[in-house]
Amino acid sequence: MMYSEKLMDYFKNPKFAREIKNPSAVAEEGNIKCGDIFKIFLKIKNNKIKDISYLTYGCIAAIAASESFCRIVKGKTIEEAKKVSYEDIKNDLGDVPAIKLHCTHMVIKTFKKAIENYENKN
Ligand code: FES
Repeated sequence: MMYSEKLMDYFKNPKFAREIKNPSAVAEEGNIKCGDIFKIFLKIKNNKIKDISYLTYGCIAAIAASESFCRIVKGKTIEEAKKVSYEDIKNDLGDVPAIKLHCTHMVIKTFKKAIENYENKN
C-alpha cells in the first residue's frame, strides 16, 4: 500500500499521541471490522480547543489521521472544529488510500463523541 510522505511522517513523529491529565472530555470509539480503537482527550477553555491528544491503537493511517486531526483543530473554537471533515484530514495527509478512508471517518466520529460528552456535562 502506498502512503504519502506526510502520512508516514505523522506516523513516525507524532506530537499529539499522549494522554491529557484532567481532560475536559474524553471519548473512545472502536471499529468492529478492523479492530482499531480511537481515544481522544480534550482540554477546552473559553469555548476553544486549548489542547487535544489521542491514543489510537490501530493501523498506520488511523494514527496519522488522528495526528492530522489534532494538528488541524488545536486552537480552534468548538464550532470551527466541528466543521472539520474527513476530507480536510485527507487533504492534509496528501492522500489516503480508498480502503483506509474509514480511518479518517473514525477520528471525526470519536471527536464528535468527545464534544457531545463535553456539552452534556456543561
Ligand atoms: Fe480500520 Fe485503520 S484499518 S481504522
